[in-house]
Amino acid sequence: MPPTPPRVLITAGPTHEPIDAVRYLANRSSGRMGVALAEASTRRGWPTTLLLGPTPTSPPQTSHLHTIRFQTAADLQHLLREHWPLHDVLLMAAAVADYKPRTKSAVRDQLPEEKIKRSDTPLVLELEPTPDLLAEAAAASRPDQVLIGFALEPANRLRESATHKLSAKGVHAIVANPLQTMDSPFVTASLLLRDGRVLEAGSQRTKQDFAIWLLDQLSQISSSTAD
Ligand code: CTP
Repeated sequence: MPPTPPRVLITAGPTHEPIDAVRYLANRSSGRMGVALAEASTRRGWPTTLLLGPTPTSPPQTSHLHTIRFQTAADLQHLLREHWPLHDVLLMAAAVADYKPRTKSAVRDQLPEEKIKRSDTPLVLELEPTPDLLAEAAAASRPDQVLIGFALEPANRLRESATHKLSAKGVHAIVANPLQTMDSPFVTASLLLRDGRVLEAGSQRTKQDFAIWLLDQLSQISSSTAD
Protein backbone atom coordinates (compact mmCIF):
# COMPACT_ATOMS: atom_id res chain seq x y z
CA MET A 1 0.00 0.00 0.00
CA PRO A 2 1.62 3.33 -1.04
CA PRO A 3 2.05 6.03 1.62
CA THR A 4 -0.14 9.14 1.72
CA PRO A 5 0.59 11.32 -0.14
CA PRO A 6 2.01 8.88 -2.71
CA ARG A 7 4.95 9.96 -4.88
CA VAL A 8 3.60 9.52 -8.40
CA LEU A 9 5.64 8.89 -11.56
CA ILE A 10 3.79 9.39 -14.86
CA THR A 11 5.00 8.74 -18.40
CA ALA A 12 3.24 10.38 -21.34
CA GLY A 13 3.42 10.97 -25.06
CA PRO A 14 5.06 9.21 -27.98
CA THR A 15 8.67 8.31 -28.56
CA HIS A 16 10.70 9.47 -31.58
CA GLU A 17 13.11 6.84 -32.83
CA PRO A 18 15.73 8.34 -35.16
CA ILE A 19 16.18 7.04 -38.69
CA ASP A 20 18.92 9.50 -39.62
CA ALA A 21 20.02 13.01 -38.65
CA VAL A 22 16.62 14.59 -39.43
CA ARG A 23 13.99 11.79 -39.62
CA TYR A 24 12.32 9.62 -37.05
CA LEU A 25 9.69 6.91 -36.48
CA ALA A 26 6.83 8.08 -34.24
CA ASN A 27 3.16 7.53 -33.36
CA ARG A 28 0.09 9.75 -32.95
CA SER A 29 0.09 9.91 -29.14
CA SER A 30 -0.61 13.46 -27.91
CA GLY A 31 0.45 12.88 -24.30
CA ARG A 32 -2.88 14.36 -23.11
CA MET A 33 -3.77 11.38 -20.91
CA GLY A 34 -0.51 11.55 -18.97
CA VAL A 35 -0.65 15.34 -18.71
CA ALA A 36 -4.22 15.12 -17.35
CA LEU A 37 -3.03 12.55 -14.79
CA ALA A 38 -0.15 14.83 -13.76
CA GLU A 39 -2.57 17.72 -13.30
CA ALA A 40 -5.02 15.64 -11.25
CA SER A 41 -2.21 14.22 -9.11
CA THR A 42 -0.59 17.58 -8.35
CA ARG A 43 -3.99 19.15 -7.57
CA ARG A 44 -4.25 16.59 -4.75
CA GLY A 45 -0.90 17.85 -3.48
CA TRP A 46 0.85 14.60 -4.41
CA PRO A 47 4.54 14.98 -5.36
CA THR A 48 4.52 14.09 -9.05
CA THR A 49 7.16 13.52 -11.72
CA LEU A 50 6.04 13.66 -15.36
CA LEU A 51 8.29 12.05 -17.99
CA LEU A 52 6.98 13.68 -21.16
CA GLY A 53 7.82 12.65 -24.70
CA PRO A 54 8.09 14.79 -27.82
CA THR A 55 4.62 16.37 -28.09
CA PRO A 56 3.31 19.93 -28.38
CA THR A 57 1.04 19.25 -25.37
CA SER A 58 2.39 21.38 -22.51
CA PRO A 59 2.77 20.05 -19.00
CA PRO A 60 0.37 21.59 -16.44
CA GLN A 61 1.64 24.69 -14.64
CA THR A 62 0.89 23.29 -11.18
CA SER A 63 3.07 23.14 -8.10
CA HIS A 64 4.41 19.78 -6.82
CA LEU A 65 5.21 18.83 -10.45
CA HIS A 66 8.63 17.99 -11.84
CA THR A 67 8.63 17.52 -15.63
CA ILE A 68 11.47 15.85 -17.56
CA ARG A 69 11.38 15.53 -21.34
CA PHE A 70 12.49 12.45 -23.32
CA GLN A 71 12.76 11.60 -27.03
CA THR A 72 13.41 7.88 -27.46
CA ALA A 73 12.44 4.63 -25.73
CA ALA A 74 16.09 4.35 -24.64
CA ASP A 75 15.92 7.82 -23.00
CA LEU A 76 12.75 6.79 -21.18
CA GLN A 77 14.37 3.54 -20.05
CA HIS A 78 17.23 5.50 -18.43
CA LEU A 79 14.81 7.94 -16.76
CA LEU A 80 12.66 5.11 -15.40
CA ARG A 81 15.69 3.30 -13.98
CA GLU A 82 16.69 6.51 -12.21
CA HIS A 83 13.29 7.75 -11.00
CA TRP A 84 11.10 4.68 -10.40
CA PRO A 85 12.93 3.70 -7.17
CA LEU A 86 12.09 7.18 -5.78
CA HIS A 87 8.33 6.89 -6.35
CA ASP A 88 5.38 4.85 -5.04
CA VAL A 89 3.04 4.72 -8.04
CA LEU A 90 3.83 4.41 -11.77
CA LEU A 91 1.19 5.43 -14.33
CA MET A 92 2.64 4.28 -17.65
CA ALA A 93 0.60 6.23 -20.20
CA ALA A 94 3.44 6.75 -22.71
CA ALA A 95 3.01 5.22 -26.17
CA VAL A 96 6.45 3.63 -26.28
CA ALA A 97 7.67 2.44 -29.70
CA ASP A 98 7.82 -1.35 -29.98
CA TYR A 99 10.46 -1.13 -32.73
CA LYS A 100 13.20 1.30 -33.62
CA PRO A 101 15.30 1.64 -36.77
CA ARG A 102 18.50 -0.33 -36.57
CA THR A 103 20.82 2.64 -36.76
CA LYS A 104 24.05 0.87 -35.92
CA SER A 105 24.34 -0.35 -39.50
CA ALA A 106 24.62 2.11 -42.37
CA VAL A 107 21.58 2.55 -44.66
CA ARG A 108 22.73 2.68 -48.31
CA ASP A 109 26.31 3.14 -47.15
CA GLN A 110 25.34 6.30 -45.25
CA LEU A 111 25.88 6.54 -41.53
CA PRO A 112 22.83 7.18 -39.28
CA GLU A 113 24.16 10.58 -38.22
CA GLU A 114 23.94 11.74 -41.84
CA LYS A 115 20.78 12.58 -43.83
CA ILE A 116 19.90 9.69 -46.13
CA LYS A 117 19.95 10.83 -49.76
CA ARG A 118 16.95 10.40 -52.04
CA SER A 119 17.27 7.79 -54.74
CA ASP A 120 14.97 6.08 -57.25
CA THR A 121 15.52 2.64 -55.76
CA PRO A 122 13.43 1.29 -52.82
CA LEU A 123 14.85 1.83 -49.36
CA VAL A 124 14.54 -0.95 -46.77
CA LEU A 125 14.55 0.12 -43.14
CA GLU A 126 15.48 -2.60 -40.69
CA LEU A 127 13.76 -2.37 -37.30
CA GLU A 128 14.74 -3.93 -34.02
CA PRO A 129 12.52 -4.42 -30.94
CA THR A 130 12.76 -2.02 -28.02
CA PRO A 131 12.65 -3.44 -24.47
CA ASP A 132 9.31 -3.59 -22.62
CA LEU A 133 9.90 -0.76 -20.16
CA LEU A 134 6.81 -1.40 -18.06
CA ALA A 135 7.72 -5.06 -17.58
CA GLU A 136 11.25 -4.00 -16.64
CA ALA A 137 9.94 -1.50 -14.06
CA ALA A 138 7.60 -4.17 -12.65
CA ALA A 139 10.44 -6.68 -12.32
CA ALA A 140 12.51 -4.06 -10.45
CA SER A 141 9.72 -2.87 -8.15
CA ARG A 142 9.38 -3.13 -4.36
CA PRO A 143 6.32 -4.86 -2.86
CA ASP A 144 4.94 -1.49 -1.69
CA GLN A 145 5.02 0.06 -5.18
CA VAL A 146 2.00 0.09 -7.51
CA LEU A 147 2.18 -0.04 -11.31
CA ILE A 148 -0.59 0.75 -13.77
CA GLY A 149 -0.23 0.16 -17.50
CA PHE A 150 -2.31 1.38 -20.43
CA ALA A 151 -3.26 -1.08 -23.17
CA LEU A 152 -4.21 0.31 -26.56
CA GLU A 153 -6.16 -2.31 -28.47
CA PRO A 154 -8.69 -2.76 -31.28
CA ALA A 155 -12.20 -2.81 -29.74
CA ASN A 156 -12.89 -6.45 -30.80
CA ARG A 157 -10.06 -7.84 -28.65
CA LEU A 158 -9.75 -5.11 -26.04
CA ARG A 159 -10.62 -7.15 -22.92
CA GLU A 160 -8.73 -10.29 -23.97
CA SER A 161 -5.48 -8.50 -24.90
CA ALA A 162 -5.59 -6.19 -21.87
CA THR A 163 -6.06 -9.21 -19.58
CA HIS A 164 -3.04 -10.85 -21.17
CA LYS A 165 -0.91 -7.68 -20.71
CA LEU A 166 -1.96 -7.41 -17.06
CA SER A 167 -0.23 -10.67 -16.19
CA ALA A 168 2.51 -10.61 -18.87
CA LYS A 169 3.79 -7.25 -17.63
CA GLY A 170 3.35 -8.05 -13.93
CA VAL A 171 1.42 -4.87 -13.11
CA HIS A 172 -1.40 -4.23 -10.62
CA ALA A 173 -3.87 -2.85 -13.14
CA ILE A 174 -4.31 -2.09 -16.82
CA VAL A 175 -6.38 0.69 -18.34
CA ALA A 176 -7.96 -0.91 -21.41
CA ASN A 177 -8.34 1.69 -24.17
CA PRO A 178 -9.73 1.26 -27.69
CA LEU A 179 -7.42 2.51 -30.47
CA GLN A 180 -9.60 5.60 -30.96
CA THR A 181 -8.33 6.98 -27.63
CA MET A 182 -5.01 7.90 -29.22
CA ASP A 183 -4.83 11.60 -30.08
CA SER A 184 -8.44 12.16 -28.90
CA PRO A 185 -9.61 14.46 -26.06
CA PHE A 186 -12.01 11.69 -24.90
CA VAL A 187 -11.61 8.22 -23.48
CA THR A 188 -13.86 5.18 -23.04
CA ALA A 189 -11.86 2.95 -20.76
CA SER A 190 -12.16 0.15 -18.26
CA LEU A 191 -9.70 -0.77 -15.56
CA LEU A 192 -8.72 -4.43 -15.15
CA LEU A 193 -7.40 -5.50 -11.75
CA ARG A 194 -5.33 -8.54 -10.79
CA ASP A 195 -8.13 -10.06 -8.77
CA GLY A 196 -10.34 -10.24 -11.87
CA ARG A 197 -12.44 -7.16 -11.13
CA VAL A 198 -13.20 -4.81 -14.02
CA LEU A 199 -14.02 -1.22 -13.10
CA GLU A 200 -15.85 0.77 -15.77
CA ALA A 201 -15.01 4.46 -16.08
CA GLY A 202 -17.96 5.13 -18.37
CA SER A 203 -17.89 6.19 -21.99
CA GLN A 204 -16.53 9.26 -23.76
CA ARG A 205 -15.19 10.97 -20.67
CA THR A 206 -12.73 13.81 -21.04
CA LYS A 207 -9.19 12.77 -20.20
CA GLN A 208 -9.23 15.24 -17.26
CA ASP A 209 -12.35 13.61 -15.87
CA PHE A 210 -10.96 10.12 -16.43
CA ALA A 211 -7.69 11.08 -14.68
CA ILE A 212 -9.57 12.11 -11.53
CA TRP A 213 -11.56 8.86 -11.63
CA LEU A 214 -8.39 6.76 -12.06
CA LEU A 215 -6.63 8.37 -9.09
CA ASP A 216 -9.77 7.75 -7.01
CA GLN A 217 -9.38 4.01 -7.74
CA LEU A 218 -5.79 3.83 -6.41
CA SER A 219 -6.71 2.38 -3.03
CA GLN A 220 -8.70 -0.44 -4.70
CA ILE A 221 -5.87 -1.06 -7.15
CA SER A 222 -3.18 -1.40 -4.51
CA SER A 223 -5.26 -3.89 -2.53
CA SER A 224 -5.49 -6.07 -5.67
CA THR A 225 -2.04 -7.63 -5.55
CA ALA A 226 0.33 -8.27 -8.47
CA ASP A 227 2.40 -11.47 -8.65
N1 CTP B 1 5.10 -0.30 -23.05
C1 CTP B 1 6.39 -0.30 -22.56
N2 CTP B 1 7.45 -0.56 -23.37
C2 CTP B 1 7.24 -0.84 -24.67
C3 CTP B 1 5.92 -0.87 -25.20
C4 CTP B 1 4.87 -0.59 -24.35
O1 CTP B 1 6.58 -0.03 -21.36
N3 CTP B 1 8.29 -1.09 -25.46
C5 CTP B 1 3.99 -0.04 -22.12
C6 CTP B 1 3.08 1.11 -22.49
O2 CTP B 1 3.53 2.32 -21.92
C7 CTP B 1 1.75 0.69 -21.88
C8 CTP B 1 1.80 -0.83 -21.93
O3 CTP B 1 3.17 -1.19 -22.10
O4 CTP B 1 1.62 1.08 -20.53
C9 CTP B 1 1.00 -1.43 -23.06
O5 CTP B 1 1.36 -0.83 -24.29
P1 CTP B 1 0.71 -1.31 -25.66
O6 CTP B 1 1.29 -0.49 -26.77
O7 CTP B 1 -0.77 -1.40 -25.53
O8 CTP B 1 1.21 -2.83 -25.74
P2 CTP B 1 2.57 -3.50 -26.14
O9 CTP B 1 3.23 -4.03 -24.92
O10 CTP B 1 3.37 -2.55 -26.97
O11 CTP B 1 2.08 -4.75 -26.99
P3 CTP B 1 1.35 -4.77 -28.46
O12 CTP B 1 1.99 -3.67 -29.27
O13 CTP B 1 1.64 -6.12 -28.96
O14 CTP B 1 -0.11 -4.53 -28.23
